Amino acid sequence: MATIDIAGIRKVYPGNVTAIHGLDLSIDDGELVVLVGPSGCGKSTLLRMIAGLETITDGTVSIGGDVVNRKEPAERDIAMVFQNYALYPHMSVRGNLEYGLKNRGTPRAEIDARVTEAARILEIEPFLERKPRQLSGGQRQRVAMGRAIVRHPKAFLFDEPLSNLDAKLRGQMRIEIKRLQRNLKTTSVYVTHDQLEAMTLADRLVVMNAGRIEQVGKPVELYEQPASLFVAGFIGSPPMNIFDVSKLRELPGVTLPASLPQSADVVGARPDAILLEKPQGEAIALKGTVELIEPVGGESHVYARLAGSDQIVILVIQGRTRLAEAEEIAFYLPEAALHPFERESGRRVG
Ligand SMILES: Nc1ncnc2c1ncn2[C@@H]1O[C@H](COP(=O)(O)OP(=O)(O)O)[C@@H](O)[C@H]1O
Ligand SMILES: [Mg+2]
Repeated sequence: MATIDIAGIRKVYPGNVTAIHGLDLSIDDGELVVLVGPSGCGKSTLLRMIAGLETITDGTVSIGGDVVNRKEPAERDIAMVFQNYALYPHMSVRGNLEYGLKNRGTPRAEIDARVTEAARILEIEPFLERKPRQLSGGQRQRVAMGRAIVRHPKAFLFDEPLSNLDAKLRGQMRIEIKRLQRNLKTTSVYVTHDQLEAMTLADRLVVMNAGRIEQVGKPVELYEQPASLFVAGFIGSPPMNIFDVSKLRELPGVTLPASLPQSADVVGARPDAILLEKPQGEAIALKGTVELIEPVGGESHVYARLAGSDQIVILVIQGRTRLAEAEEIAFYLPEAALHPFERESGRRVG
């Protein structure tokens, strides 16, 4: 096990494409850190630099306190799990699990012990003699993880390992990975573009945007205190409603809380923080027309057009709603639920 320290890392690909701009990140021993962000933001590039699969333009990567920039992937003692499993098709599951250990000259008894242990942890004992093509997608993904586990590496690196699986299986595997990581306590970096997967897995989340870190924190911290408009929009589903402060001011009968910072020209409110009943404290009172209601099991998503505006506001109502399409409604943004931002910088201002 080990810490991973990334200091001043930059990556410029041939053709002058800067994929990572001077980025710093420290990962604790045993921690599960999730890198999340839209496609192309540099997640895989960063992971591959940690793994040694991509050269580092500037800065250092340290594993367990040692700078590894010049070390080959095999010398870094970390294991990577990919989306496409990368299993050897002609080898049995057992053969796939043993392969890396054999290559390193691990003694036979030790190989057997490790394979048995990994197969037990992952519950793949019944499939050990099968070929990968005789397994389901979820079973293959487990074998891919088994191959990482048997190495007893200092760290696991995951690059969108569940993207090929259907939604239900993805949910199950997510729980398995979390449980596995908790039990093994192996430092892990997990890459995904899926904010829900990121929120549910991470001890700490790193939100990336265009080769830079937007915010680092516990999932709940990022949800409750997004540091930028980008994070506010990326974390949470349905996404946060964003209102233009000058447009709100122009709406008839609308007053804004005195506490709203002067520099806030944009204000956000989570769909589940908007209320249909006037709350006790200060709140922005708005009116609208229900355009669409989506019942999604335990809650309903209500899409309302803001009166005097083109803006659609999303509300999440617990349980079933008595609202009907085309109904005129009043709704309230409580002062405490407002997220103030400055548009120009995108930064939070209160
Ligand atoms: N081998 C490469 N050569 C040139 N540009 C690349 C290469 N690999 C990735 N990029 C570019 O670097 C940026 C980050 O890519 P990547 O790390 O794959 O993002 P992500 O994993 O977040 O989707 C993208 O703009 C991508 O086009
Ligand atoms: Mg990627």
